[in-house]
Amino acid sequence: MGFATKRNAGSRKIEGIEIREILPSEVDLAAALLGRAMRDTPLHIASLGNDSAFREQALEGVFRAFLSLESATKGLVLGAFRNGILVGACGMMGPGRCQLTLPEKIAMLPKMLWNCGLRGTGKLNSLFRNWSKHDPVHSHWHLGPVGVERELRGRGIGSQLLREFSRIVDDEHASSWLETDQETNVSFYQEHGFEVVAKDTVNGVPNWFMKRSSGA
Ligand SMILES: CC(C)(COP(=O)(O)OP(=O)(O)OC[C@H]1O[C@@H](n2cnc3c(N)ncnc32)[C@H](O)[C@@H]1OP(=O)(O)O)[C@@H](O)C(=O)NCCC(=O)NCCS
Repeated sequence: MGFATKRNAGSRKIEGIEIREILPSEVDLAAALLGRAMRDTPLHIASLGNDSAFREQALEGVFRAFLSLESATKGLVLGAFRNGILVGACGMMGPGRCQLTLPEKIAMLPKMLWNCGLRGTGKLNSLFRNWSKHDPVHSHWHLGPVGVERELRGRGIGSQLLREFSRIVDDEHASSWLETDQETNVSFYQEHGFEVVAKDTVNGVPNWFMKRSSGA
């Protein structure tokens, strides 16, 4: 994939990253990576507490269940590979498939309780309820989760994942949607055509809701 944009023009850009859909056998690896990558976001600290090791383990378990659905039936999961090693990942759910069905919610509940405990499950469920309330009625691809290994951030890997995401949705002339809990991420997503359309407070943490029109 040859890309040359302002964002990636810096000397810290890492070359030779392969972006491809992950295999079903790579779901566990992607879940572990996203658990590590996302354990310190403000929303996850507010929802799962101050113990970073607990948050990482809890999120790995939740993402394992979630990415299995995303990769099997609801959409797809992209991986960024450096020398064959997974260093970044993002999930994307297809139009009409981003909300969990009742059977999916029922299947997910014991996994959430097992991994996050009662308090964490309650907090994550209130987060999902809030996000669902904002979910657009129009057809859209839903981006998330997104994460890059901590020591490799700011070197263009997230942007490569976003460019592949954009290529896929633009091929379908589809719009897309995401939620984020950090202002630094807002500018990252704006660089890839997303714009803020709503803001809300979830579990005491500000959240930005962003839409991307086809071809933006
Ligand atoms: C957000 C994230 C996926 C971006 O991936 P990345 O590989 O760092 O992104 P790029 O190198 O292509 O772009 C970097 C841009 O991302 C933004 N960014 C957000 N968090 C960052 C971080 N911790 N380190 C570096 N850049 C970060 C900055 O705006 C930066 O812009 P700049 O290049 O002008 O400084 C990655 O930083 C990450 O995993 N963050 C933690 C988990 C998270 O917040 N996920 C998103 C949830 S919505």
